[in-house]
Amino acid sequence: NIAEGSLARAFEKDFYIGAAVSSRTIVSQKELLIGQYNSLTAENEMKFASVHPQERTYTFEEADRIADFAREHGMKLRGHTLVWHNQTPDWVFEDGQGGEAGRELLLERIQAHIEKVVGRYSETVYGWDVVNEAVTDEGEALLRPSRWLKGIGEDYIAQAFRFAHAADPNALLFYNDYNECNPGKRDKICRLVRSLLDEGAPIHGIGLQAHWNVQDPPLGDIRAAIEAYAALGLQLQITEMDVSVFTFQDRRADLAEPTAEMLRLQEQRYRQFFDLFREYSGTITGVTFWGAADDYTWLDDFPVRGRKNWPLLFDERQRPKAALRAVLGTD
Ligand code: XIL
Repeated sequence: NIAEGSLARAFEKDFYIGAAVSSRTIVSQKELLIGQYNSLTAENEMKFASVHPQERTYTFEEADRIADFAREHGMKLRGHTLVWHNQTPDWVFEDGQGGEAGRELLLERIQAHIEKVVGRYSETVYGWDVVNEAVTDEGEALLRPSRWLKGIGEDYIAQAFRFAHAADPNALLFYNDYNECNPGKRDKICRLVRSLLDEGAPIHGIGLQAHWNVQDPPLGDIRAAIEAYAALGLQLQITEMDVSVFTFQDRRADLAEPTAEMLRLQEQRYRQFFDLFREYSGTITGVTFWGAADDYTWLDDFPVRGRKNWPLLFDERQRPKAALRAVLGTD
C-alpha cells in the first residue's frame, strides 16, 4: 500500500514508520496514512478509560475501528497503553464501599483488564506499551507516586508485564516514557528496566516518546540516551515523536502560522534525528509520530490550551514540509 517514494518506503530497511490515529483521523487522513506510513498507534482509543469505563463494561468499538483499518491496509499496530496514571477511571482504585481498593483487588483488576484487552487484539497488535510513565521526573525517588504504586507497591510494573505476556506470549512488551533523554530521568529508566530484567520480567523493548522541540533536548543527550538504553540489550522504539516549533520557554499563543525561522530549525532538527536513528537501525525498530499531519496534533492543546502547533512532517493541508524532504534526503 505504501506509495513509491514515501516516508515508510524510504525507511523500509531500517524501521517501521508509524502515526498515532483516532477513529476520526483514520477517515480525514486516510490517503496520507495509507500512502506514507506502515504502522499505527491508537492515540486514545485503547487506553483504560476508553475500553474499560466500568468494571463490567468494555467498549471496544473505536479501538476495533482502528484495528480493522490497520488490518485492511496491511499496517502494523502498536498497542497503547495498559497501565498508566492518566486516563484510567476512578472505579479501578475504589473498593465500591467508599474506600480504596487494596493490593489483591487491584492486581485482579489489572490482570482481568490486560487479559481482555491484549487477548482481543492478539491477532493485530504486535507490541504493547505495557507500562507508561512510571518513573518520576523530580527528586531522588525512582517511581511516580501514582495510585498504582500506592495501591499495589513497586512490583505492579513487573506484574503487569507478566500478565501481558501470559495474555499474548507473542507480543513484544515495552516500557514507555517521556523526558527520556534527560540524563537524570534516563538513568532512572535504565535502573527500572535493569531491575525488571534482573527479576526475569518479560520485557522486550523501551519506548522513547520523543516529544521534542526545535531546541530541546540537545542532540548529544538523545544519542547518549539511545546508547544507554541499547546497552540493556533491548530493542528501542520512538513511540510518540513530534518536534514542537515552540521551545519550553516560548509561551506565545498568537501565531497564525509558524515563522520561517521555526520551520528552518525544525527541518534541521528532523534531519539530525533521522540521521541518528538510521545509525541505530536494527536497535531502533520503529519510529512513530504522534499524529500524521499538522491539521491535527495534541499539541494544539498542550501545554498551552488552544495554541496551534506545527510539529509534524506534513502541513495543515497534509502536504510535505521541508522537514519531510530533509528526512527523505530529497531536498
Ligand atoms: C495524549 C493524547 O494525544 C491526547 O489526545 C489526550 O488528551 C491525552 O493523551 N504521553 C502519552 C500519550 O503516552 O498517551 C499522550 O497522549 C501524550 C503524552
